[in-house]
Amino acid sequence: MAATGYCETIKLRRLGILTGGGDCPGLNAVIRAVTKTAMTRFGVTVIGIEDGFEGLIEGRMHQLSNLDVSGILSLGGTILGTSNKGDPFHYPVVETNQEVKIIDASQSALQNYKNWDLDALVTIGGDGSMHISQKLYELGVNVVGVPKTIDNDLEATDVSFGYDSALFVATEAIDRLHTTASAHHRVMVIEVMGRYAGWIALGAGVAGGADIILIPEIPFHWDSICKKVLERSKHGKRFSIVCVAEGARPAGGTLTVKEIDGKRTDAVRLGGVGEKVAKEIYLLTGLETRYTVLGHLQRGGSPTPFDRLLGTKFGTLACELAAAGEFGKMVSLRGTEVTAVWIKDAIARQRLVPIECQLVQSARAFGTSFGD
Ligand code: F6P
Repeated sequence: MAATGYCETIKLRRLGILTGGGDCPGLNAVIRAVTKTAMTRFGVTVIGIEDGFEGLIEGRMHQLSNLDVSGILSLGGTILGTSNKGDPFHYPVVETNQEVKIIDASQSALQNYKNWDLDALVTIGGDGSMHISQKLYELGVNVVGVPKTIDNDLEATDVSFGYDSALFVATEAIDRLHTTASAHHRVMVIEVMGRYAGWIALGAGVAGGADIILIPEIPFHWDSICKKVLERSKHGKRFSIVCVAEGARPAGGTLTVKEIDGKRTDAVRLGGVGEKVAKEIYLLTGLETRYTVLGHLQRGGSPTPFDRLLGTKFGTLACELAAAGEFGKMVSLRGTEVTAVWIKDAIARQRLVPIECQLVQSARAFGTSFGD
């Protein structure tokens, strides 16, 4: 094993694969494409690592057969399991007195990579997993990354798989809220995921025709939100839909945090801003207001055709990169082409919504408020 990276001449015989961080629809499409390409085109043995990096640290893995990856294209979740508490460089261990100690378990991960005689490792994950992948690569693991996340916040790819499926669920939820909002003449607030990026709220908000969209990139003002719902009410629209990203916050205010959990790769768990927004609208306008937190529904269920296709293309290229010895790289979508970029470039910064982007401008043009 050597960390020379780009175009290292190895003979790929055994390829490890894991899914890390929060799940999203399309993971199984990637696992299927990597495994089938590896076995069929390259005659490579594929080892599935269980529960993300946790399985690598603990040596939990098994060989994947053609049967294991058959019929999984349309399945949500991941047949390998995943975890967002398995960072080898920040690994939580529960001691006998029940206290949690954070240790560096990267050498165990490295040892298991060697013990299982792996020549390369495909890591399918989001921002946190790509940071871990880069560090493992620097330690000498022959890593190829595949970007997944419903949040769509990974730089260096135009879109990650999982986003389209989450958008589909969130848009449908807004459609459903519309009918009940209009029937009861209520303000309906829907909180969607996305972490520190507003891609889901923006996409679903525009696709679902929300009247107000609140995203982390555009801090909001309570009076702007209330002005918008009152104006609509005055003009005969006795209901409003507010789509709020979990990472949205008032100008000069802070993020709404649900929980801090040091065992997670990202200790901060967001949540609760939807309730805050609903309460404040009711308090300031007197209009009947309800809120819905869409939560993990956005991550569950079947991937959309777009995510199945993207996952499949990503998986095939990831396997080809591993076979060609192109390590330290992540597959990425650029325009309509699937290509490869350096993982270190992909994690250099987060992909946030540019506040002047076409979709924001277009929404503003027909009267959508961003609460600013
Ligand atoms: O990163 C994906 C994501 O679903 C975020 O949108 C959300 O903030 C987070 O994961 C939720 O994490 P968990 O599943 O640990 O509650």
